[in-house]
Amino acid sequence: MEKYIVTLDEGTTSARTLVTNKKGEIIAVDQTEFTQFFPNEGWVEHDAIEIWNAQHRTLVQAINHAKITSDQIAAIGITNQRETVVVWNRTTGLPIYNAIVWQDQRTANKVDTYTQKEVDLVKQKTGLIVHPYFSATKVEWILDNVEGARKLADNGELMFGNINTWLIYRLTAGELFITDHTNAQRTLLYNIETNDWDDDLLKLFNIPRNMLPEIKSCSENYGLTYPGLLSKSDKNQIIIASSIGDQQSALFGQLCVNPSDVKITYGTGCFILMNTGEKIVRSSHGLVTTVALAYDNKITYALEGSVMIAGAAVQWLRDNLKIVYSAIETEWYAGQVKDDRRIYVVPSFTGLGAPYWDSYSRGAMFGLDRGTKREHIVRATLESIAYQANDVISAMRKDMNNPISELKVDGGASNNKFLMQFQSDLSQVKVIKPLNVETTAMGAAYLAGLAVGYWKNVDDIKNNYQLDLALNPQIEQKEAQRLIKGWTEAVKRTFSWTKD
Ligand code: G3P
Repeated sequence: MEKYIVTLDEGTTSARTLVTNKKGEIIAVDQTEFTQFFPNEGWVEHDAIEIWNAQHRTLVQAINHAKITSDQIAAIGITNQRETVVVWNRTTGLPIYNAIVWQDQRTANKVDTYTQKEVDLVKQKTGLIVHPYFSATKVEWILDNVEGARKLADNGELMFGNINTWLIYRLTAGELFITDHTNAQRTLLYNIETNDWDDDLLKLFNIPRNMLPEIKSCSENYGLTYPGLLSKSDKNQIIIASSIGDQQSALFGQLCVNPSDVKITYGTGCFILMNTGEKIVRSSHGLVTTVALAYDNKITYALEGSVMIAGAAVQWLRDNLKIVYSAIETEWYAGQVKDDRRIYVVPSFTGLGAPYWDSYSRGAMFGLDRGTKREHIVRATLESIAYQANDVISAMRKDMNNPISELKVDGGASNNKFLMQFQSDLSQVKVIKPLNVETTAMGAAYLAGLAVGYWKNVDDIKNNYQLDLALNPQIEQKEAQRLIKGWTEAVKRTFSWTKD
């Protein structure tokens, strides 16, 4: 009986389930979008129950599409949007507030109140920066703003988890309360040298330790799903065998397993990670240090640059400006005009992430004249994705003092050839795309499969990686620098826009 790995890929805008075979082929997918709530300027929330229901529905549906039975599932792997915070009641199992999403900037003012000493302490211990993006200040906000929450927390009545923890809790009907090192590290509560929760950080952010899940590796047999998960009559229990943040999962799915390997995922945001092996590299150019993987009794690290708005800028063209019907059209529009008008769109709708970290920046367009057409705006919006990624790549080059030989790309917008060529041109580097761009799901699938012996070792999965596209720069470095100069000027002019 052929067996399969099932991956739950819970992203910022949709829940997906993918069924994979031993060759790394995806034999079935199901996906459901869920509601995005924007209750205030700069706030972004999800309903954690809606997420669980959407995820559960796609799990059942994907297994139906694949026409397999539960005993054909060798293991379930989980990968998730990181940093997003769910706080729920230990007794009822119900969230006490909506999930506060990684993009949410509500704690920007609070973050400004930390002293330089505290900021330095956090940077040293976590490899991150004090910023609303990460989980800690969001958890603190819930405890201080939801009626009765602080008291419940002090009495040990609340649980905090990122989405991986929440899903595992639900998949096991409350049996398992765990996370993994990659997700834990993105909370601002995890010490990258001790690889554990840190009491000084918990004190600084006023979060009781008893709210936190146990930290596990990214690939091991954590436990079993509850009987009846897939249907009332099916009592089979399935092994849950991987948990990893989505960007780290893509790094592994791209087989960026050696130091200096770099991947870019173009999703809602855009996330660039460079593997640095077992070495902790601390950035001096606006990047953060990330746990890349906890596997085989080893913890490896990466340098990371997170761009807050990438694919979301195209969604904005479609849903807000309504100047395209679908994301696919953007490639065509962009090809209709030249870049000679020097139009720049800076899509800092929720502030700027790496390497600027300005929560108060807001979006802007530059260089408009009476001849500016929809095509120019579409083109400049696509270009803004590559410019932002390039800012991170430049920072990585400076931090590592070494050339980047190639960029492995994935995510929805990696199918946009205009964008990929522009990325190659701007960053003056070879861009490589695998045939299977579901690398986020593949990372978690591989880690789950490795945990249960479905694949023997990393070499065993290397044959599954096949190339689709390789692009080389088509413009001179001087021209790339000219374009980047205009972009840098445009970005600067958006700084601190909403700051009082
Ligand atoms: O850090 C946020 C990131 O994990 C979100 O990824 O793919 O849901 O946009 P995505």
